[in-house]
Amino acid sequence: MTTQNVLRFVVKPAVCAAALGPLAWLTWAGLTGNLSVNPLSDLTNETGLWALRFLAISLAITPLRRVTGWNWVIRFRRMLGLYAFFYGVLHFLVYTIADRFAGLDFPDGMASWTTARNLAASVGEDIYKRPFITIGFTALMLMLPLAITSTAGWIRRLGGKRWNALHRLAYVSGIAAVVHYYWLVKADVRSPLLYAAVMAVLLGARVYWARMKAASVARSAPAVPRRA
Ligand code: HEM
Repeated sequence: MTTQNVLRFVVKPAVCAAALGPLAWLTWAGLTGNLSVNPLSDLTNETGLWALRFLAISLAITPLRRVTGWNWVIRFRRMLGLYAFFYGVLHFLVYTIADRFAGLDFPDGMASWTTARNLAASVGEDIYKRPFITIGFTALMLMLPLAITSTAGWIRRLGGKRWNALHRLAYVSGIAAVVHYYWLVKADVRSPLLYAAVMAVLLGARVYWARMKAASVARSAPAVPRRA
């Protein structure tokens, strides 16, 4: 088997299956009563953490490639980014059920238009009223265009330059997610600060390389003679 085939048929499916591990574990723990006394809060927090972890890992791919010269790691970036979005959506769904749906009255029964309308209003109001929810929602919404345009077709349609510019939103989403985490934590802020540091290093590396590139382009550009 060639290295390409090993990556494609062995490593990629293995990474894909491993990324579903947290979901499998949470499902198992939920069904067998192995979560804490507040299982819905556990599910909210764990899916949020995994969304943030996958976002950080996907943002680490390009710096890892540059530092190590391992070009093959780039093949995992899209998948890891999509997992960040996947866990972000799960996180939002669990929050919608645990935090919003659970607090509703059901005058026309649970499965009714009134319930759907009240649920949408309750989520909207929470996004408007609680800043940590506003910023969490922003982080998720920023991931949406990235998930949609992650296909080869969209890269072709947008062109490499525009696609890259759009996908820089991943950093904005990462910063918003870290702020969301920092604002919601009540006492021990060590974990959100750790993620903030990781994001700062990843973003700092990108800014540093972009500046180096701009400087080298400026140096190699032919000098324009001054008009007398
Ligand atoms: C619609 C968007 C979102 C909503 C409504 C939302 C809501 C919440 C809520 C209610 C909690 C639990 C707060 C508590 O226990 O006091 C939470 C925790 C968390 N969320 Fe979000 N979130 C959103 C998006 C995101 C995104 C996109 C990420 C990451 C990329 C994220 C990462 C986290 C993290 C890391 C935690 C804390 C986990 C922990 O304490 O162990 N959230 N979120």
